[in-house]
This record gives sequence, C-alpha cells and structure tokens, in this order.
Amino acid sequence: MVKKLRLGILASGTGTDLQSIIDASEKGMMDAEVKVVISDNKDAYALKRAEKHKIKAFFVDPKSKKKEEHEQEINKILEENEIDLVVGAGYMKILSPGFVRKWYGKLINIHPALLPSFKGPNGQGDALGYGVKISGCTTHFMDEEMDHGPIILQAAVKVQPGDDRDKLASRILEVEHQILPRTIQLFAEGRLKIVGRKVEIRKGESWKNKYKVLPDVLYSEGY
Ligand code: GRF
Repeated sequence: MVKKLRLGILASGTGTDLQSIIDASEKGMMDAEVKVVISDNKDAYALKRAEKHKIKAFFVDPKSKKKEEHEQEINKILEENEIDLVVGAGYMKILSPGFVRKWYGKLINIHPALLPSFKGPNGQGDALGYGVKISGCTTHFMDEEMDHGPIILQAAVKVQPGDDRDKLASRILEVEHQILPRTIQLFAEGRLKIVGRKVEIRKGESWKNKYKVLPDVLYSEGY
C-alpha cells in the first residue's frame, strides 16, 4: 500500500477549498490525508468542517503575540503531526520569510486569479474591476513574496456578461476545488520538480481522463 501523504491545512474562512481536499481524499482520488487544520480565526467554518471529519482542528490565536511566536506554535503542531505538505487553502495571514524558508518546497497555496496578475486578498474583484475577459486560479509553491512562488497549475475561466465579483468568485472557486486536490496528488506522486522559477511536471496519468472537467475551463498541462 502507498504511504499516504500527511497534509496540514491552513485556512481562515469558510473552508470550501479544505472540503474539496477532504472529499478527494475520502473518495480515494489522492494518496493524501488531512491530518490537521489550523486557523488564525476562531470562528472559521473550516475548523467545524475538520471536526465533522474527525480531523484535528487548531485555532492558533495571532493576537497579543509576536508573529514569530504565532508561527512557532503553528510549526510545532505541523511537526508534532509529522506533516509532509502544508497547504494554504484560503489562509489570509501572510507567512513570514522564516516560516516559508523552513517549509520551502513543501508549502503550497491557491490563489483566485491567474498569477502574476491580481495578487492579494481580492484577486477576483481586482481582475473584474480591471476589466479582464478571462481570469482563473493558480496553485503555486510559496516563497518569501506574497502570491509569487513557482506556479504548479492554472485554470482559466471566462468572465461572463453580468458577472459581479461574487458570481465570478464562485465560478473560480468551483475550479479551485478541482486544481487544488489535483496539485496535492501530483505532489504525492512525486511528479513536481522546482527548477528555478518553474515547476516541471513529470508526465503521467491525467485527471482529465478520469474525472469530470468543467465546460469552458482551460486547464494547464498536468491537470
Ligand atoms: C478561495 O478563493 C481562495 O483562493 C482564497 O480564499 C478563498 C477561500 O475560500 N484565497 P474557502 O474558505 O476555502 O471557501
């Protein structure tokens, strides 16, 4: 039996990205299991989702302590739980360079825009406000700059007439729920190699041939 990758998820909000990982894992689509969920927000619904699935859930309070201390607490949880891959799934706090360096190559993130455009917390709204005709989402290894590290997968979504920020965000989110678990599975299969700014994806099985793809979405190589 393949040894399953042990995942630590960082999430601040509703946790639908987290849910997509849990679901893909429970359906046997990934050789990976969520072992811990950590949030900087005590009310994050992501923590409730974890509990429902009997996954350890931790609120690590960022208030009234230094950033290093907050991250040391997170780090301790990740290490004690022998985490192999840390996933930012809607984690809204910026991680310090020290934390990112420690986990470099084992720390990924999802961003709701086609990087390097529209970095920051409102990628969907910023893209729409700029007047783009196509947006999408990106998974990438995290580095010391926000929304900057080597890109793993991207998927493009058309902006529709009448889209507002929330309509576009929800169509992008649906695709996030596909490329995030897929990215984790590529990592689990050892198919990702960082070469400078680029990520080489070793050829292999494609999810396009196995699972449903969404109409009008362009998936990058490796999906
Ligand atoms: C996603 O769009 C993610 O890309 C962004 O925050 C959102 C999180 O959604 N950074 P959820 O909390 O997983 O539902």
